[in-house]
Amino acid sequence: MKVTAVILAAGQGTRMKSDLPKVLHPLCGKPMLWHVLEALKSVTTEKPVVVVGHGAQAVQNYLADSADCVLQEPQLGTGHAAMQAESLLKGKTDLVIVTYADMPLLRGETFKRLVETQRLNPGPFSLLTVIADDPRGFGRIVRKPDETVEAIVEEYVATPEQQQIKELNVGAYCFNADWLWDALHRIEKNPKKGEYYLTDIVEIAVKDEVPVQAVLHDDFMETIGINTRVHLSEAEAALRIRINNEHMLNGVSMMNPATTYMEVGVKIGKDTLIMPNTYIQGKTEIGEGNVIGPNTIIRDSKIGNGCKVLAAVMEGAVLEDDVDIGPFARLRKGAHLKSHVHMGNFGEVKDSTLHEGVKMGHFSYIGNADIGANTNIGAGTITCNYDGEKKHPTEIGEDAFIGSDTMLVAPVKLGAGARTGAGAIVTKNVPEDTLVVGMPARAIRKVERKTKKK
Ligand code: UD1
Ligand code: CA
Repeated sequence: MKVTAVILAAGQGTRMKSDLPKVLHPLCGKPMLWHVLEALKSVTTEKPVVVVGHGAQAVQNYLADSADCVLQEPQLGTGHAAMQAESLLKGKTDLVIVTYADMPLLRGETFKRLVETQRLNPGPFSLLTVIADDPRGFGRIVRKPDETVEAIVEEYVATPEQQQIKELNVGAYCFNADWLWDALHRIEKNPKKGEYYLTDIVEIAVKDEVPVQAVLHDDFMETIGINTRVHLSEAEAALRIRINNEHMLNGVSMMNPATTYMEVGVKIGKDTLIMPNTYIQGKTEIGEGNVIGPNTIIRDSKIGNGCKVLAAVMEGAVLEDDVDIGPFARLRKGAHLKSHVHMGNFGEVKDSTLHEGVKMGHFSYIGNADIGANTNIGAGTITCNYDGEKKHPTEIGEDAFIGSDTMLVAPVKLGAGARTGAGAIVTKNVPEDTLVVGMPARAIRKVERKTKKK
C-alpha cells in the first residue's frame, strides 16, 4: 500500500515576526520542517510533498531533493493548500497523510497509529486529537452523541460552549486518496476569512454519512504547535528533554539535563558524564568514559574515550583517547590531538596535529603545525603562521622542548629533540638535538628605583 505525506508549509507565519520562513526556524539544530519530514519517514512509502508559498525559494533550497514541492499561490487556507498536491499525487498513492509543518514534535509512532487506524477504517479518513486544558488556539473537536466526530470548529468561530471543549485538533490526518481529492473541491470558502479550511472536510464526510475516526493521543507535549517564538522555545525545551532522556537511557550521565543542550544527531558513548552548561552540536561523536564540561561548546567534532574537556570551545576538532584539555581551551577547525595530549589553559590550536603525549600547558597558539610525540610546548609559545598574505607550516619533531615564549616564524622546521631557550625567535630550521637561544637580555645602564632603598 502506497502512503504519501503532504506537508503544508506555505503560510506566512506572521506571528513569528521574522524574515526567515517559519518552517525553517531551528529546533535543537534542525529546521522545524526537518523534524516533520524525519517523523514521517518511518510511515510513508513515497517521496513527501511539501506545499510551499511564503518564502518558497528558501524552503525549496533547503529541501533540495528530499521532497517534491508544489507552490500554493496565493495562500487561501489549509484546505486550498492540500488541494495543490492533487496534480502530483492523483492516482499515484493509496493513503495521504496531511500534516502541518509547524507541528515538529509529532513522533513517527504517532503517525503510524494514525495510518493503522485508517487502514481499518471503513470511512475515508482518520485524524489525530488530544485532550488539553490549554487550547492554544487549536480547533475544537465536536462529537455527536454516538461519539463519532461531527465537526472541527476553529477557535474564533466557536460558541462559548464549544470553546470549553477540551478535545483539540492536532493537525494530522490520514485520508483515502480517492476520496480526498474530490472532497477538497467540495470545501466552501469560509465566509469570515475568505479561506478554505481543511478542517471543514469533516463536515463533508458527515454529509456523505461516512465515519471519521479520531485517534486520541495522550502526549500533549508532542502536539505543541508553533505559531510564535514563545511556542518555539517551549517546543525546543520539550525536544531537549526528549533528546537528553534518550542519551541518559543509553548510558550517558548528565549532572543537570536542564542546562545540557544537545542537538539532534549527536552520538555519545556510555559512561560519559556531561556537566552543566554544555552545548553539543552538529555532527559530533563522543566515545565512552569522558567527562565533558562544565561550560563547554562542542560542534562538529570527534572525541574518543577517556578524555576530559573542561570549559572548552571545540569546532571541527578531533581528540583521540585520554586527552585532557582546558580550562579555557580553544580548538578550531582541523585541530587533531592524539592520545594522551595535555592542553592546559588558554591554548588555541587550529589546523594542526599534536601527536601522542604532547604537552602544552599554558596560553599558546599553534596553527598549521605538526608537533611530534612527547614534545613540550612552553608557556606562551606562538606559531607565527601568517605573514599577512599566506599561512605557513611549522614542523616540530618528537621529544623537542620549546622554551617559554618562543616565536616560531613559519615556515620553519625543528628536528626531533631540538630545544629553544625562553623568548627565542626561531626564523631558521633547527637541526635535531640542537639548542637555539635568541637575544638574551643584557645590561645597558644603571637606573633609579622609584621607591627608596632601605
Ligand atoms: C490549524 C488548524 C486547527 C488546528 C491547528 C493545529 C485549520 C483551518 N486549522 O490552525 O484546527 O488545531 O492547525 O496546529 O486547518 N498553510 C498553508 N497554506 C495556507 C495556510 C496555511 O500551507 O494557505 C500551512 C501553514 O504554513 C502551517 C499550517 O498550514 O504550517 C497550519 O496553518 P496555521 O495558520 O498555522 O493554522 P492554525 O491556525 O494553527
Ligand atoms: Ca499553526
